[in-house]
Amino acid sequence: MLGPHMMRITTAGMRPTRPQHLREDHHVSTTPESTAASTGSPDATGTSTSPDQQRWAVVTGASSGIGAATARRLATEGFRVVMGARRVERLERLAEETGGLAVELDVTDADSVAAFVERVPECHVLVNNAGGAKGTAAVAEADEDDWRWMWETNVLGTLRLTKALLPKLVSCGNGHVLTVTSVAALETYDNGSGYTSAKHAQAALHRTLRGEHLGEPVRFTEIAPGLVETEFSEVRYGGDTERAAAVYRGLTPLTAEDVADVIAFAATRPAHVNLDQIVLKPRDQASATRAHREP
Ligand SMILES: NC(=O)c1ccc[n+]([C@@H]2O[C@H](COP(=O)([O-])OP(=O)(O)OC[C@H]3O[C@@H](n4cnc5c(N)ncnc54)[C@H](OP(=O)(O)O)[C@@H]3O)[C@@H](O)[C@H]2O)c1
Repeated sequence: MLGPHMMRITTAGMRPTRPQHLREDHHVSTTPESTAASTGSPDATGTSTSPDQQRWAVVTGASSGIGAATARRLATEGFRVVMGARRVERLERLAEETGGLAVELDVTDADSVAAFVERVPECHVLVNNAGGAKGTAAVAEADEDDWRWMWETNVLGTLRLTKALLPKLVSCGNGHVLTVTSVAALETYDNGSGYTSAKHAQAALHRTLRGEHLGEPVRFTEIAPGLVETEFSEVRYGGDTERAAAVYRGLTPLTAEDVADVIAFAATRPAHVNLDQIVLKPRDQASATRAHREP
């Protein structure tokens, strides 16, 4: 149930949901309502909590790397976090540490997503983070199973979770979807087409939502990191730890906590502030293919 504070957010901080046929004003509103929200008063933040207005966050891929760091960080920001991934024993340890909820989730399986969503009582923030890369084959030698894995996990996984949780995100009166794409969603590079194509598609899906839900009380933020040292490269190289370590050699990569920090910043802005896209890279990385490395 919405507490009195949340009711104020809904009426003063944002326009109420209107049917699609009434939502043709696709421009920034200058109504007194939006002016009130733009003052940035504490009422518009939607981030303060009292017992009757606990804010819930869902983080997919929370068993390692960016997802685990984000779950931890959002818990310290006062969110009750529902954590999803296949390695549930890792989630359980994290849930014990953070007071969140560990729920098994395979984003590539529609039944698993349905069972997961059943366990989510409310959803104010969804972090679509589950994903990754497999392989480094050129297009001419592309492995269809690797492509399927990348498209199922990054693209269809994001689609399934977002579709299932959007009703809760909108009805809470102040929802926020953050999707972790990549610099691979902005650029292509040789031997990376399975991943870059999946990340481009995931980003296209995410950016489309911004327009489709304009006028509704839900925000959309794309987080596009460069090199982050996690299990990502081990997964990409099929468990070859030596090859994975070489990806980060000679430079200081981002940590999972660096990315979690940015996600938490975006998620704790006042309700009228939508950070559309955030690109973050190590100082030594200029693009997906160009980095400065010490010998
Ligand atoms: N590391 C980087 O350099 C980098 C850069 C840009 C973007 N990203 C993106 O950041 C996100 C997180 O990656 P990371 O770097 O933190 O890598 P990671 O340490 O390998 O974490 C990936 C997470 O995704 C989960 N996952 C994979 N398949 C899943 C499935 N079918 N169902 C549910 N969860 C699944 C994994 O959990 P389980 O295996 O337990 O299911 C794991 O928790 C990914 O979308 C990745 O593409 C990473």
